[in-house]
Amino acid sequence: MPEFSTVSMLSLTNKRIILGITGGIAAYKCAELTRLFAKAGAEVRVAMTKAATEFITPLTMQALSGNRVSLDLLDTEAEAAMGHIELARWADLVLVAPATADFIARIAHGQADDILSTLVIATSAPIAVAPAMNQAMWADSGTQANLSELAERGFKIFGPGEGEQACGDVGLGRMLEPEQLIDHCAGLFEVGQLAGKRFVITGGPTREAIDPVRFISNHSSGKMAYALAQEAAAAGAQVTLVSGPVNLSTPDSVTRIDVTSAEEMLTAVMENINEADVFIGVAAVADYRPKQQVKEKIKKDSEDLNLELIKNPDIISEVSKLDSKPFVVGFAAETNSIVENGRVKLEKKNLDLLFANSATETFNSDSISVTAISSDQEFEIPTANKNVVAREMLKLVSESVKS
Ligand code: PMT
Repeated sequence: MPEFSTVSMLSLTNKRIILGITGGIAAYKCAELTRLFAKAGAEVRVAMTKAATEFITPLTMQALSGNRVSLDLLDTEAEAAMGHIELARWADLVLVAPATADFIARIAHGQADDILSTLVIATSAPIAVAPAMNQAMWADSGTQANLSELAERGFKIFGPGEGEQACGDVGLGRMLEPEQLIDHCAGLFEVGQLAGKRFVITGGPTREAIDPVRFISNHSSGKMAYALAQEAAAAGAQVTLVSGPVNLSTPDSVTRIDVTSAEEMLTAVMENINEADVFIGVAAVADYRPKQQVKEKIKKDSEDLNLELIKNPDIISEVSKLDSKPFVVGFAAETNSIVENGRVKLEKKNLDLLFANSATETFNSDSISVTAISSDQEFEIPTANKNVVAREMLKLVSESVKS
C-alpha cells in the first residue's frame, strides 16, 4: 500500500505550504506530516504557537522542514530572514494542524496576536484547519459556531476523525492522520500537466576563456531557457536549470546550477541527467574554445594575435547517446534556411524534437517564433512573449512524454 495516493504526490509538487502548529497532543504527528509533504515535493515552512512548542520542539520541525521555524511575531532576526507578510505571500496553502478549539476561536474572531494567527489573516492563500480536541469541546456550541464562521469565510475544515482520544474519551475530535491530511491538501490543487516529470534544461551562453580577463561567448540572454524552466515548474515538473552566465533571477521551484564554460555545462548536465524524463538544450554553447589555457593576461605587443581553437563537446549529442535516453529537445538559431538547417541538426544529433528559430530575431529578445520539427512533422508557433511560447512548446513535449 502506498503511503498516499499518486495524485497527492503529483499535485503537491513545488507547492509552498505553511504548516501552522497549535498546542494539542496531536502536534507530534506534524513530524510525519512534514516528511510526507516533503516526499510529495512540497516545500514546508512551519509556524508554531507558544503552546505548540510544549508538544513538539521547533528544532525537530526545523530539521524536518529544512527551514527556520517562525515562533514569534516580534523576532527581529526571523523577520529579517523572511518577514511575516512575505511569508504569508509566499504560501500556496496554510494548513493549521492540529487546530485547537482556542485557536479556532481566535481566528474566527479575526485576532492576530501571535505569528500564526497573523499569518492566517495576512495570507491570500487558501487556509485549511484540522481540528483536534476533546469530543465535548468539539460538540460545544461555541466551537461549532466558530467553525461555521470559518467555513463561511472559505476556510477548509479537514476532519476531525472519530475514535479513542488521549484523555480516554471516545468520539469526534481526533486530528486526521497525516496521510489523510496530505490527500485533502492535494485535493485543493490541480495536477499539473507535467506533474512528476523531471526536466534538465540548459540555458544562456557559455564563456570560453582566452586569458584571465577575456573570453569567447555570444549574445544569449537566457530568457528562453528561463521561461521554459519557469513554465515547466509551474506545470508541476521538477526542473534543474544548468545556466551559463546570465543576468536573470531563478524562477520559483527551479534548481539552478551555474556554470561558465561548455565543459562545465557538460559535467553539470551529466551529473543531473540520471532519471530525467526530458532534456531541453536551449543554451547557445560556444562551439570552440581556445586550445591553450593562458594563465596570464595576453599582452598587446604584436599587431596580430592567432588563437588556436578546438571543438567543445556537444552536450546534447552526449545526452542523446545515453542508454536510458530522456526525451531530447534541441534548439537551433539560424540565419538562413531555418527549417532545413534545423532538420539537419535534429537528425545529426538524434533529437526527438527541435525548435528552429531566427538567430537575428531571437537572441536577447523578449519574444520568439519557432518551427517545431520532429522526424515526421513541422508545426509553427507564431511570435509571442517567450513565456507564452514556452507553454506551447511544453504542450508538445508533454504529449510525447505522457506515461
Ligand atoms: O537566450 P536567449 O537570448 O533567450 O536566446 C534564445 C536562443 C537563441 C539561445 C535559443 O532560442 C536557441 O536557439 N538556442 C540554441 C542556439 C543554437 O543555435 O545552438 P546550436 O545550433 O549551436 O546547437 C543546436 C543544439 O545543440 C542546441 O540545442 C544547443 O543547446 C546544443 N548544443 C550545441 C553545441 C554544443 N557544444 N552543445 C550543445 O548541446
